[in-house]
Amino acid sequence: MQSPLTAILLCCVTVAAAQAQDGGERAPFVTTPDEVVERMLAFSGTREDDFVMDLGSGDGRIVIAAAQKFGARGLGVEIDARLVALSRENARRAGVAGRVAFEEGDVLTADLRRATVVTIYLLPFLIDKLQPKLLQELRPGARIVTHAFAMTGWKPDRTETMRIAKRHPGQGDESRIFLWLVPAQVRGSWQGRDWRLRIAQNFQEIEIEGEAGGRPLAIKQAKLEGTALSFSGEGFEFRGRAGTGRIVGELKSGGTAAPLVLTRR
Ligand SMILES: C[S@@+](CC[C@H](N)C(=O)[O-])C[C@H]1O[C@@H](n2cnc3c(N)ncnc32)[C@H](O)[C@@H]1O
Repeated sequence: MQSPLTAILLCCVTVAAAQAQDGGERAPFVTTPDEVVERMLAFSGTREDDFVMDLGSGDGRIVIAAAQKFGARGLGVEIDARLVALSRENARRAGVAGRVAFEEGDVLTADLRRATVVTIYLLPFLIDKLQPKLLQELRPGARIVTHAFAMTGWKPDRTETMRIAKRHPGQGDESRIFLWLVPAQVRGSWQGRDWRLRIAQNFQEIEIEGEAGGRPLAIKQAKLEGTALSFSGEGFEFRGRAGTGRIVGELKSGGTAAPLVLTRR
């Protein structure tokens, strides 16, 4: 028997495929239950200084809740002009029209650079197309929360499954949400003092190999969270921050601590 989510997904895919035939790259309009909206925003740590973008913003509920309940500012991008008009009206009624805006447009061409939090409830075929754009345009440390669907090939930083207390159209008994912290781009070769590192990266997952003083480093643990980079091995530990072309931090080794700056080779 199909689970409610599978049935909804199949229905959504059929609708999306039908819409794709007339040239649009669309996912259908199904709203996120309010209790899940609130959890998605709390899950991403949304605060007053955040700029929240909902990609495929439907009736505007996520951006409106971000302003009303979390004090943030935000922008919804929505392809359907009627839903954009409805969202503006909903924002006015909620008393947050001065803090949020809604733009008619395609998420695949929207400018994401202002966003510190991005929320997404779209079908996987659109999420796949958005992934490279999210990495390219969002700054390290930005948070992405997806509802129901994960990113292809990226490991989420956190996930949560919540039971839905109230019945909601197009929704089963549970919702799954995923948090993704945009990592700094550290893939490549780095050098500082007599240290040489090569970093392999897939989203926030990293593997580091290298040498110090001409001797190979056995790195046992390596972690990247936004711009915070740490790694350690036998007798040493590094903690620092990755910026554009530089990794700056402190190296503890042999009972002493000293700064270590790595630049791209
Ligand atoms: C599943 S609904 C989610 C609505 C809202 N974000 C929420 O969670 O309640 C997806 C929305 O994305 C819109 N949409 C689909 N494809 C889009 C695209 N390529 N660009 C912008 N909006 C799109 C649909 O019109 C629909 O309103």
